[in-house]
Amino acid sequence: MESLTLRASPSTASPLLRLPGRRRAASVRVSASASSGAGEPDLSVTVNGLKMPNPFVIGSGPPGTNYTVMKRAFDEGWGGVIAKTVSLDAGKVINVTPRYARLRADPNGSTKSPIIGWQNIELISDRPLETMLNEFKQLKKEYPDRILIGSIMEEYNKAAWHELIERVEESGVDALEINFSCPHGMPERKMGAAVGQDCALLEEVSGWINEKATVPVWSKMTPNITDITQPSRIALKSGSEGIAAINTIMSVMGIDLKTLRPEPCVEGYSTPGGYSARAVHPIALAKVMQIARLIKEEFPEGRSLSAIGGVETGNDAAEFILLGADTVQVCTGVMMHGYGLVKKLCTELQDFMRMHDFSSIEDFRGASLPYFTTHTDLVQRQKEAIKQRKAIRMGLQSDKDWTGDGFVKETESMVSN
Ligand SMILES: Cc1cc2nc3c(=O)[nH]c(=O)nc-3n(C[C@H](O)[C@H](O)[C@H](O)COP(=O)(O)O)c2cc1C
Repeated sequence: MESLTLRASPSTASPLLRLPGRRRAASVRVSASASSGAGEPDLSVTVNGLKMPNPFVIGSGPPGTNYTVMKRAFDEGWGGVIAKTVSLDAGKVINVTPRYARLRADPNGSTKSPIIGWQNIELISDRPLETMLNEFKQLKKEYPDRILIGSIMEEYNKAAWHELIERVEESGVDALEINFSCPHGMPERKMGAAVGQDCALLEEVSGWINEKATVPVWSKMTPNITDITQPSRIALKSGSEGIAAINTIMSVMGIDLKTLRPEPCVEGYSTPGGYSARAVHPIALAKVMQIARLIKEEFPEGRSLSAIGGVETGNDAAEFILLGADTVQVCTGVMMHGYGLVKKLCTELQDFMRMHDFSSIEDFRGASLPYFTTHTDLVQRQKEAIKQRKAIRMGLQSDKDWTGDGFVKETESMVSN
């Protein structure tokens, strides 16, 4: 754990973060290594003391299910890997097939058109914990300088959480991501989103986790809640070093119009699942923006933010970083394009940085966050701009101006892109 640094200003840290024995990282980040201005833009980041060559992290899911695929991720150059979520007793995890369904851009579902949405009803890892832990150990032995994060989820039971944390930490992982957000399966056992959607429960469970963990903790949030800042605030106040968001969005992918059965169809029946991929990116941006503002306003000593949702290009990642994300996770993108995607993501992010003369990630992290305001403020700003003749009136001036014949053109006259 040489890469971890001591907390810089303990006096400003929350009391929970000063528990004895904690060797968790002090600063959220240190500046990326100074760039001379010449040469390639520097993609490296240091988050909660964890050094990564780039901000791209494999999101928990199929791309982090076993030794072979995680090794592949490191070899291809991913900044870090978050393994598939593990629990103490994998015997209780029973998956079904088919468990994925896809939405295509073409309204008629032509298989030639791009996939924009992905639904899964997959549970957490069904592999024995001991097997997963041995693979974590092996990976850390082979890749000591690379960041491996264990994703964990347990039942509403303090002793079980403590045992899981102890065993996963012993395997040598650099940090823990807490799955407070799995949207399907096992809510009756108070697991995943059943905790993330209940602030009282979350506070209690977060307390158990943070009194035990000795490595940085990222709490992974569900978007299936009205105000994502509420559970995020609780997780951070309970001592989590960072927030990861979003997990998948509750969805029903569709109904087969021949059989009249819902998709994905298992023995004639289905259950709502989690939605991911490109279609969720705007929703993820909104949730990440809200969490970034929360961190800026209420945790000025700094906490980290790992953004997730629909990333397939370097520009998608740039958007998350412009809102304040430290790292960017990709799950479905890897399932569709393979592990080599990281090379394209890095090249495209560097192209964006070159366009603006940014030499490091810190040069633009959070740069777009100040430009979110209230609707009332937008009205004021537009009135002022028109008064000063800096803007012209565009589009319809009032709801009474809509017409039946010109409806589509009138709609287009008010679109920004
Ligand atoms: C098939 C599948 C399995 C997933 N399994 C997990 C999981 O075990 N633990 C977890 O925290 N998130 C899991 N996720 C959620 C992803 O990590 C991620 O939060 C979500 O899919 C949004 O990102 P994406 O659009 O890049 O996939 C899973 C996602 C998919 C598509």
